[in-house]
Amino acid sequence: MRWMSILCPLVAMQAGIGAAWVTHVKRGSEQNATLYAYGANASAWPISYGLRDGLLYIAENPDNNAADLTAMYWDLPSITDECWIVNGTFVNGTHAGSLYIRPENDNSIGVLPFAKATAIDGTVTGFALFASQLVYNNNTQLEAQFWASSTDTDGVYALVWVEDEREIGSGSFPVVVKGSESS
Ligand SMILES: *[C@@H]1O[C@H](CO)[C@@H](O)[C@H](O)[C@H]1NC(C)=O
Ligand SMILES: *[C@@H]1O[C@H](CO)[C@@H](O)[C@H](O)[C@H]1NC(C)=O
Ligand SMILES: *[C@@H]1O[C@H](CO)[C@@H](O)[C@H](O)[C@H]1NC(C)=O
Ligand SMILES: *[C@@H]1O[C@H](CO)[C@@H](O)[C@H](O)[C@H]1NC(C)=O
Ligand SMILES: *[C@@H]1O[C@H](CO)[C@@H](O)[C@H](O)[C@H]1NC(C)=O
Repeated sequence: MRWMSILCPLVAMQAGIGAAWVTHVKRGSEQNATLYAYGANASAWPISYGLRDGLLYIAENPDNNAADLTAMYWDLPSITDECWIVNGTFVNGTHAGSLYIRPENDNSIGVLPFAKATAIDGTVTGFALFASQLVYNNNTQLEAQFWASSTDTDGVYALVWVEDEREIGSGSFPVVVKGSESS
């Protein structure tokens, strides 16, 4: 459970989503930001969009045409906004859609052309920033279980959500995802 140190403050706070800890969150929402994946060796690679499948990838060059990748900019709410909808925009300014975990694609993280945080049964799921770190609200449980999973292309990793670490293949490693506003 290597993420315990990160998740503990979140778990401790989820009991009281409210004004008490708003003051502890130093940074708020971010507009037109880049998302970076930080691996265990502290190298940060940008997260880009796969033109073939609408899923997200981690690669040193976010505009790797050979791998059908393109850079994307993000509007990232803060957990204090209680919005939970992260939206992506292509470099040409076209809106791409919102961020989702895709169970039908082995829990890859992808973009779909609609925005939804509340299901019919009232459960809320979605993404937002805790300080500058991207977290997932799983019906009030804040989690950060992002992994980089190797692909057929050298140096290109798929951004996936891992519910059970025992099911992870080799060549995968956990990442922390952070937003960084371009200045
Ligand atoms: C978003 O950031 C990119 C890169 O810095 C810039 O080219 C683009 O104009 C920005 N878009 C908006 C809407 O601010
Ligand atoms: C470490 O960084 C290199 C790129 O500098 C990357 O290829 C490698 O997958 C990373 N490994 C881990 C465990 O983060
Ligand atoms: C994302 O788009 C949805 C639908 O337009 C909107 O309700 C939501 O506020 C947007 N999120 C951010 C962070 O701007
Ligand atoms: C903007 O770029 C995206 C991704 O490359 C593409 O799908 C879309 O058609 C482009 N939109 C326009 C208006 O060129
Ligand atoms: C959300 O929480 C439920 C209940 O703990 C769990 O079964 C489910 O796998 C979680 N979803 C994700 C995407 O982690």
